[in-house]
Amino acid sequence: MKIIVTGGAGFIGAHAVNHLIDDGHRVLVIDDLSTGKLSNLNPKADFENIDITESRISDVIKSFEPSVISHFAAQTSVSISTNNPILDANSNIIGSMKVFDAMHQTECRNFIYINTGGALYGEPKYLPVDEKHPINPISPYGLSKWTAERYFLMQKNACDYVKILRLANVYGPGQDAFGEAGVVSIFSNKILSNEPVTIFGDGKQTRDFVYVSDVVDAFKQALKKDESFSVNISSGEAVSINELYDLMSQISGNVISANYEDVRYGDLLHSVLSNKLATELLGWVPRVDLGQGIKRTLDWHSAN
Ligand SMILES: NC(=O)c1ccc[n+]([C@@H]2O[C@H](COP(=O)([O-])OP(=O)(O)OC[C@H]3O[C@@H](n4cnc5c(N)ncnc54)[C@H](O)[C@@H]3O)[C@@H](O)[C@H]2O)c1
Repeated sequence: MKIIVTGGAGFIGAHAVNHLIDDGHRVLVIDDLSTGKLSNLNPKADFENIDITESRISDVIKSFEPSVISHFAAQTSVSISTNNPILDANSNIIGSMKVFDAMHQTECRNFIYINTGGALYGEPKYLPVDEKHPINPISPYGLSKWTAERYFLMQKNACDYVKILRLANVYGPGQDAFGEAGVVSIFSNKILSNEPVTIFGDGKQTRDFVYVSDVVDAFKQALKKDESFSVNISSGEAVSINELYDLMSQISGNVISANYEDVRYGDLLHSVLSNKLATELLGWVPRVDLGQGIKRTLDWHSAN
C-alpha cells in the first residue's frame, strides 16, 4: 500500500515507518523536522520536508495518491503549548485539519490519527481511565489534540475509516532525552552520565508506560481494521515515578539519589489508561514489560 506518515522523522513515527517499509509498503514521510531528525528517516521512504500548516500540503498529499494517511505530526510539548498556545493550535488543530482536508481531495478514505491519552482525560475520576471517561484536558496541548480528534469524528461520514489511537506514555530507543517529556529517556541519559535526575513533586505520581514497538504493533493492527474507533493504547499498569527511577537504577547498576522539585503546571497526579478495548477491538496486548523496555532503552542510549 501507499501510506503517508506525517511526523515520520519523529520518535514514534520513525519506528512506524521502519515497520511499514519492512512490511513492503511504500511510505511518504511528511515532516518539517521541527523536532524530528533526518537521522531518524528510513532511507527507503520518500520524504517531503514541509510544515503541515503550509497550503501546498494538499498538493504533496494529492500527488502521492495514498491509500492510508497516518497522522503523527504534532507540536508535542506541554510547556510550549502553555507559553505559545497559538503556535500549538496552529500545528495541532489547523495543520491537522489541512491534512484531513487534503485527504478528501484524493481517493484515500482511511485515516489514522495518533492522539494523546495521557493528556486527554484530565484528572481521572476513576482508574484505569477507559474511553468512556469524561474528556477534560488541562493543558493547551491536550486541548489541541482533542479538538483535532473532534473535527475528524465530526466529519467521519466523509471518510470510510477514522481510527484514533490514544497513547499513554510511550518510551523506547530514539526518544529525545533533552525535551520535557519522555521521562524514561531523560532518566536514561542522566543515569548513564552519572548525574542526578530531577523528579517533580514527591515521585508518588503514577503513569503507565508503553514500549514503542508495542505502539507500532497496535498501529499495524489498526491499519488492518475496516472500521472507525477511538481506543487507548497503554500498558494499563500504574508505576510511580519513584518506582520507575528505582527500577532504572537497579537495571543500570548506577544508583544516584534524585533531586525533588515542585510539581510542574499541567502534570497530572495519576494517569493510567485501560487497554481493555484495545485487546477486544484490535486483539492487541502489550508484549514488552517495563524491565525489558528499560534495558533496551538504556542500551540504546549508551550506544548513541
Ligand atoms: N511520546 C509520547 O509519549 C506520546 C504520547 C501520546 C501521544 N503522542 C503523540 O504521538 C505523536 C508523535 O509524538 P512523538 O513522541 O514521536 O514526538 P516527536 O516530536 O518525536 O514527533 C513529532 C514529529 O512531528 C513533526 N512535526 C511537528 N510539527 C509539525 C508540522 N507542523 N508539520 C510537519 N511536521 C511536524 C516533528 O518534526 C516530529 O518529527 C504526536 O502526535 C503525539 O501527540 C506521543
